[in-house]
Amino acid sequence: MSQPEPLPPTEASSGFDRRSFCACALAVAAASAVSACGGGGGGGYSSSAPPPPPPPPPSPVSTTETKAGLLGQPDGTVRDYTISTNGACPLQAGAAQGYYLVRDGTGIYAISASCLHQGGHIDPTSGGFGCPCHGSQYNLNGTVTVGPATVGATLQHYEVSESTPGGTLVIDPSKPVSATTRLS
Ligand code: FES
Repeated sequence: MSQPEPLPPTEASSGFDRRSFCACALAVAAASAVSACGGGGGGGYSSSAPPPPPPPPPSPVSTTETKAGLLGQPDGTVRDYTISTNGACPLQAGAAQGYYLVRDGTGIYAISASCLHQGGHIDPTSGGFGCPCHGSQYNLNGTVTVGPATVGATLQHYEVSESTPGGTLVIDPSKPVSATTRLS
């Protein structure tokens, strides 16, 4: 009985059989379909969604002070238009803690009450402000004199104007101003 002749190289012996080829082709087709539908890179429905609208600008804060009345107060007078913290130490950066309205030797200004360290609620002290959270100290103009907030940095000042000529003062948090700006 003669030995059968060896078969020519098969798909199995070449390392890439027909089943593998078909599976591969299907995978490529599926990937193309997903890509065509926008599912291949974080797209899909989310890529066509409109971006969220920007947050509304902060609203002006009405006060009970008039320019003439506050200018008639001594240098160093501070009026409190901050949020109530009930003795706690909430950390809120930016203007979220509210504002102090201050009268110094050259006029009236408003500053943020959010500590420049981690947003603690600063409180008036003799001659300035202090943060009870970690101990930062500020002078009356809102410049850090003792850390951990960066010494020399200054709290944001905001525009103060009269609601009507001679009327009550309004703090506008949407209008940051320089630390030397005064209403006088
Ligand atoms: S948040 Fe004011 S000192 Fe840390």
